[in-house]
Amino acid sequence: MGAQETLGGGGDTLVIGVRAGRPHLDYWGPALAGGRSTLLDPRLLERAGAHGMLDAGEAFDLFPESGVGFTGAPALRAWRASGSFVTQLAHSGTRTTPEGVELVLADARAGVEAVLSIELDPATGVAGFRSRIRNLGVEPLHLDWVSCAALELMDGEVMAFGGRWAREFDAHRFRPGPGLWSSEARTGRTSHHAPPFLIAGEAGFGDSHGEVLGLHLAWSGDHRLFVERLRDGRLQAQAGELFWPGEMVLEPGASYETPSLYAARSSDGLNGLSDRLHPFVRDRILGGRLRGKPRPVHFNTWEAVYFRHDLSELKALAETAAGAGAERFVLDDGWFRGREDDTAALGDWTPDPIKYPDGLGPLIAYVRGLGMTFGLWVEPEMANADSDLLRDHPDWILGEPDRVQPLGRGQYVLDLTRPEVSEAIFGQINDLLAGHAIDYLKWDMNRDLTHPASRGRPASHAQTLGVYRLIDRLRAAHPAVEIEACASGGGRADYEILRRTDRIWTSDCNDPIERQAIQRAFSIFFPPEVMGAHVGPAASHTTARTTSLDLRAMTALFGHMGVEADLRALPARELDALKAAISLHKSLRPLLHGGRLIRQAPPDPGAIAFMVAGDGRALASLAQIETPRYNAAAPLRLTGLDPEALYEVRLVNPPFRPQAAMKQIPALVRGEILGATGRWIAHAGLPTPILRAGEIAVFQLNRITR
Ligand code: DGJ
Repeated sequence: MGAQETLGGGGDTLVIGVRAGRPHLDYWGPALAGGRSTLLDPRLLERAGAHGMLDAGEAFDLFPESGVGFTGAPALRAWRASGSFVTQLAHSGTRTTPEGVELVLADARAGVEAVLSIELDPATGVAGFRSRIRNLGVEPLHLDWVSCAALELMDGEVMAFGGRWAREFDAHRFRPGPGLWSSEARTGRTSHHAPPFLIAGEAGFGDSHGEVLGLHLAWSGDHRLFVERLRDGRLQAQAGELFWPGEMVLEPGASYETPSLYAARSSDGLNGLSDRLHPFVRDRILGGRLRGKPRPVHFNTWEAVYFRHDLSELKALAETAAGAGAERFVLDDGWFRGREDDTAALGDWTPDPIKYPDGLGPLIAYVRGLGMTFGLWVEPEMANADSDLLRDHPDWILGEPDRVQPLGRGQYVLDLTRPEVSEAIFGQINDLLAGHAIDYLKWDMNRDLTHPASRGRPASHAQTLGVYRLIDRLRAAHPAVEIEACASGGGRADYEILRRTDRIWTSDCNDPIERQAIQRAFSIFFPPEVMGAHVGPAASHTTARTTSLDLRAMTALFGHMGVEADLRALPARELDALKAAISLHKSLRPLLHGGRLIRQAPPDPGAIAFMVAGDGRALASLAQIETPRYNAAAPLRLTGLDPEALYEVRLVNPPFRPQAAMKQIPALVRGEILGATGRWIAHAGLPTPILRAGEIAVFQLNRITR
């Protein structure tokens, strides 16, 4: 049978077997008795061989290679100028690491070593797969593809994510047929259109049922994630970096390590996945740094003033924002020298002398005087041709010097692989942070990489590392400064950027109707406290749809809440309602940002429902996105409460007002506080108001007895 390694975590067992020198994922599922893999009869792992294929069948394992008889897309494509390309890696040793194992595979003749690292987080059962290739030969080794690992998927249904600017995390489902489905980003960022997330599971898996496996490649640069039907019917998934032609060449002795492919499984659908992934992100990706650190409510200037920065206007906004309960004022794009619109000035990170004749100091002092902290927008990776930086250093652009590049938002990418460029940008941002009371940076990135070349060679990988290095260096120099990851909205949402940031700007779309769907998908993989969610203007700037303050506020309330609108334009009644929503958010922050997020089946298909529960309390949201199909909604059933406990339930939003849509108004909807057990609420449900499209009901539940 060969050797087996057993990892345990989060109630799961993961068994890695080595047979005939090859690494296999023999089992990953609910914990085996005593965590013992020996209960597996090795003969159960045998597979019938078919005619018309190689004699030993499809050589599929954790790191399948063509050279050993795998006819699908291999985990490694490596070659040398001499023409050699066959690898036949064989297990040469296993090392135990604090949280997993490293399997060492080697092929002395090819001069290649591969180390597969497999970890299972003991607390959550989230697995991490990485591989490291070392050139043991005497000639350079060219790498065209290195997968973190190859995982077998259940043959049912796949949920994948596409999207675009202002419509991120657009989920779609398909049943994999024959062939290969691939999601690829060549834009130098995690991307809007091909975010590296995938869920595969049994057909029809849902929010709270079904066997599922969730995958995420933690990388903020070019990548590929694919699902392939093998000839014997199995499905494999692989993920890794997408290299540009000739980009990854290992000199003798050199190594390349893939990013981490994180994977979690659950027998309880998407909610079960989030139950593992949210604590994993909180503890392992963020390292617990947001625990016990309430996420301050933001006021962001972007949709309020765009590039029109007028000190007295900004002060007035700050005052209104502070009055409404904002705790951090984030000065967005438009503050730096020569930035009148988006065609100039990126690269020159000093305050505009006309807009800020005395620098940023007076505004910061004013904001702080109002009790808020101060955040600043920057886009350190970019420069406009119309900037002193590029006038002085036109050769600092990432690209081939003699080529005209297509522009994105009128700007170029700076070559952060070059120490002098990184140093210059570090110096400017460092000066800003050292010279001002700034506690937060909104770190934006607004263009695709099209010519990621440095010093005559492709450098997308090195550029991504360069971005990480720059952020790491600034963090080390200013450990108290929090950073938000933004790329034209949610174009850079991944666990590797989150390792070094504290919030992700989910989308430039503040329209709550769209946001409900975006946040629902985003929050499968990310906990709510890192999900930037703002109350925007009534008429959305990205969709032109007008929505109520109620829906806007109650949608933002469930994330890292903020406001991004000209508050002076709000009628007094709405400003009061916003104030109330912010104060509700603050009072429930530990629950909202530390509880369990449980997606619920809404009574109407045109609604989105979920609940955050924890510590004897829960807050449930029912947002009606489309006109309801039927006259009167069925009760809202909420799963995830303690079945035996008695809860006091009340509708906190909308506050009761006679509604045109209802002739009979249930007591709960009239504002009465009623008692019900968790079991009753899960099975019989709660009466809801009749909601018209664009309306939202929020229920608060407090446990009163056990
Ligand atoms: C794109 C971001 O997503 C917006 O929130 C805003 O910061 C603009 N850039 C500013 O240019």
